[in-house]
Amino acid sequence: MKNIDTYTHVRGESLYVDDIITRHDTLYGVVFDASKAHAVITSIDYSKAEALNGVVKIFTHQDIPGENQIGGIIADEPLFAEKEVHFWGQPIALIVAETELIARKARKLIEIAYEELPVIVTAREAKEKASLISPPRTFKMGDADRAFAACDFVYEGETFSNGQEHLYLESQGCYAFPLENGAIKIFSSTQGPTAVQRTTAKVLGVPMHKIEVEVIRLGGGFGGKEDQATPWSVMAGLAVHHLKKPVKFILNRHDDLRMTGKRHPYESSYKIGLNKDLKIVAYEAEFLQNAGAAADLSTAVAERTLFHATNSYFVPNVMATVYSCKTNLPPNTAFRGFGGPQGMFVIESAIAHAAREMQVRRDEIQQANLLNENDEFPYGQIARQVIARPSWTTAKEKFNFEKLREGVVDFNHKNDHFKKGISMMPICFGISFTNTPMNHARALVHIYQDGSVGVSTAAVEMGQGVNTKMLQVAQEVLGISANKVKLETTNTTRVANTSPSAASSTADLNGKAVEMACKSLKSRLSAVAASLLKVDITAISFHGDSVYVNGEKSGTSWEKVVSQAMLERVALSENAHYATPEIHFDKSKEKGHPFAYHVYGTAITTVTIDCIRGTYEVEEVKMAHDFGASMNMAVDVGQVEGGLAQGIGWMTMEEISYNKEGRLLSNALSTYKVPDIFSAPKKIETVAVATDGHEHAIKKSKAVGEPPLMYAIGTYFAIQEAVKSFNPNYHLKYDAPFTPEKVLMALYEK
Ligand code: MTE
Ligand code: HPA
Ligand code: MOS
Repeated sequence: MKNIDTYTHVRGESLYVDDIITRHDTLYGVVFDASKAHAVITSIDYSKAEALNGVVKIFTHQDIPGENQIGGIIADEPLFAEKEVHFWGQPIALIVAETELIARKARKLIEIAYEELPVIVTAREAKEKASLISPPRTFKMGDADRAFAACDFVYEGETFSNGQEHLYLESQGCYAFPLENGAIKIFSSTQGPTAVQRTTAKVLGVPMHKIEVEVIRLGGGFGGKEDQATPWSVMAGLAVHHLKKPVKFILNRHDDLRMTGKRHPYESSYKIGLNKDLKIVAYEAEFLQNAGAAADLSTAVAERTLFHATNSYFVPNVMATVYSCKTNLPPNTAFRGFGGPQGMFVIESAIAHAAREMQVRRDEIQQANLLNENDEFPYGQIARQVIARPSWTTAKEKFNFEKLREGVVDFNHKNDHFKKGISMMPICFGISFTNTPMNHARALVHIYQDGSVGVSTAAVEMGQGVNTKMLQVAQEVLGISANKVKLETTNTTRVANTSPSAASSTADLNGKAVEMACKSLKSRLSAVAASLLKVDITAISFHGDSVYVNGEKSGTSWEKVVSQAMLERVALSENAHYATPEIHFDKSKEKGHPFAYHVYGTAITTVTIDCIRGTYEVEEVKMAHDFGASMNMAVDVGQVEGGLAQGIGWMTMEEISYNKEGRLLSNALSTYKVPDIFSAPKKIETVAVATDGHEHAIKKSKAVGEPPLMYAIGTYFAIQEAVKSFNPNYHLKYDAPFTPEKVLMALYEK
């Protein structure tokens, strides 16, 4: 089935926040933000800005009736800075004016003076100064210290992986307007409508029922709108609360880039111990996460780094520690993979290091250590229905890895100025919010009296195709055609207390709820149909908008049964709640069973580098992916290819840069390069590994949103292989992204 948004997307008719028709008296907001990364505010003079014709009001922390606090996990982040600023771009005030242009002009008229304080930009510096968001955490299995002592080979090293800008096409924004009795409705571009509702209520000091949040769809989120869509909506809510007029507020690209957090940069170190048979016996890693100036989701991201520290390998002795380091950068946040990619990059680096020293191929070490059935993860979960080896073997065989590799070797023999590199990259990603209590969702399904159906869930459509999947579930369970089902907007008054659409779990959690609600409705309608047709209820089923009796099509339509149900006063609405079974995690022991299941896969990547220029092309990426029993291959392959391209950007060209003063230098698309059609792989091939799927996945169709991003880690190591074949003296570095500048330096390093 085609993505149900295709038609309106192509015609430019899909609605986003900026498309909502504004009321005639709408006002516009612009944020006034800090122009120092760490400083005491010694004075602010708003008088010139306030005097500008068309400026309505400038809101600061002094206008907050409730709490000046937006921290989600830890209460450490004010909505508006008070006496001190902690990052460049930190909001200080919201200027509300008759037009956005006036508000922008007013921003330039605000006079502010600072007394500067020392700025911390890197995680290492923060750790040295004991500037931490929370105490470090350690996952431990076996006895790494003892095991290292007995290993044939032990290697140590350091890695760096940089941050990444989400670059959702639709920047952060919202439109808020007053309802009656102090209630406020906010249209927000958020992955987390409940977070927006809860935080707005807290800042305004009103009950949550006064705040209604509605999401139509997002022009991309990628994690950047899980937590960080909230402050803008809260600010707009604050302005509406005081002014009783609608306020619209969309960050322009510059403001968005400067004020919002990104993927966390990580400075890490590793120690890996192997035996002659290539088995990894012990692994130790220390991750320094650059969290920025407030916690945001950093502690949860850090936790997922530990969960994925050993990727898809079984290592009997593990010790992995993560520090969330507090720096003076914008608070870094969720980004596709949620700390997992950062953890996996480190063990892949350690394997590359070991392979080089032991004079074996990387893929030989990888293959020797892949997870097997009943292996234990360092966090205590036992690996079941493991697809690590099947995906590896499928990739090797279907794509003829040995022949591809020989082709690369042959090419490198024949060419001096161009070199090729090839890599294998297995992935293993845990599905569920790592915070167990977040794994739930609800669905509200109405069958209208004409037989058409409306479905509301907590799922936010952000391009990943979740609404299409929800429609498929409803349609299949009820046995009706697709055009009878409509996916409603995501609204806190219809589906409440929701977790954000994140962790790749949206389709599973909300889909299971839709399935439950539709099954209840179907059993009620089956009873109606059975009495109508005077047969036993067990004989009834629904297919293709018709009632079937013992598998035979009856003359009775779906519509007829629905209207009969109306006459009999049978409820045609259902609300269902789903909570993932089995999962649990004990943080005091750092052990448990946090994931409903894991998604596996293996990618083969080939690159060609130009050894004169240092530039390179990703020739092809071939992936054997564990879709389970995909319910929509078109949507899922889109996710695989999109995630891959986004990961390649992170690993190769996207270079976030802050200067020593904490100012973002890569603050425009002229200084921050993301993959375009020319830098995407020339060829992408995806095959499905033959698997049964998993019963906790919706219709056994496994989660697909985040895992494919991590295939792109293979690109880094393919480039490294190519560099090595040109310059045997190249000393391997693990410093992502591997930009052309770094490639050029490596090619000619002595
Ligand atoms: N795909 C598109 N087109 N746009 C997005 O914003 N977000 C990614 C992924 N794929 C995203 C996307 C992230 S970070 C997650 S967690 C999942 O989609 C969320 O959706 P899901 O839970 O339905 O997979
Ligand atoms: N993944 C993504 N988002 C999250 C998670 C997670 O595990 N936990 C909280 N938010
Ligand atoms: Mo995705 S990083 O869990 O929004």
